[in-house]
Amino acid sequence: MSAAHSTVRSAFDLTATEYDRARRQLVPCFDEFYRAAVAMLDFPREAPLEALDLGAGTGLMAGFVASAFPGARITLIDIAPAMLARAQARLAPVIDRIRIIEADYVQAPLGGPFDAIVSALSIHHLEDPDKRGLFGRIFGALKPGGIFVNADQVAGATPARERRHKDEWIAHARALGVAEDDLAAAIDRMKCDRPATVAAQLRWLQEAGFASVDCAFKAGMFAVFGGYRLS
Ligand SMILES: C[S@@+](CC[C@H](N)C(=O)[O-])C[C@H]1O[C@@H](n2cnc3c(N)ncnc32)[C@H](O)[C@@H]1O
Repeated sequence: MSAAHSTVRSAFDLTATEYDRARRQLVPCFDEFYRAAVAMLDFPREAPLEALDLGAGTGLMAGFVASAFPGARITLIDIAPAMLARAQARLAPVIDRIRIIEADYVQAPLGGPFDAIVSALSIHHLEDPDKRGLFGRIFGALKPGGIFVNADQVAGATPARERRHKDEWIAHARALGVAEDDLAAAIDRMKCDRPATVAAQLRWLQEAGFASVDCAFKAGMFAVFGGYRLS
């Protein structure tokens, strides 16, 4: 594991017990954001999906996928064991459909093939070459017809817009009543962030082989985008 990834692991292990508490303030568009990600999974509700959640954390995204698709079996990968311990507790009611793997997804085999690979608020921690490498490995881990959906924090198209998104995010979180120590902890964790623009990432997805790439949702620094492996 690289030093940078080890820093990310420590940051999330330290925050695991508080992580869920402030989610709706720290992701002001929480409902639309996760709803847009699940809506991109255009499979029948009863489909026996094999799904993978990269950077699953406390299992928020995996939980939404498990509820939307009662026949789905979901593998969660995360580098931070304390986050995964909370995912295990959250997903206890559906644990027979869940597999939990502690690993750095940049280095560990992804397994598969999967019908759907999802990720939320995780891949923006990677340097751009690692994002591009990961997109190629995700493509390789999907079945033909499979989809990748990334609900993530993204960079502004210009430095000025980047600053505005961050200022608006802080103002919005405060308006929603975030505790100042939760906000400070989130801002501190942002030192590990390496967000890229939506435009660059859609291009990288195409270069990795994905088709019909699209951004289905964007609000400030939060975006939901992805693409299909056709064959
Ligand atoms: C902000 S949390 C998001 C958790 C969850 N997906 C959600 O939507 O709440 C980011 C997660 O990505 C994980 N992560 C970051 N880089 C990773 C890597 N290279 N391999 C595995 N997990 C990683 C962190 O440990 C953390 O749990």
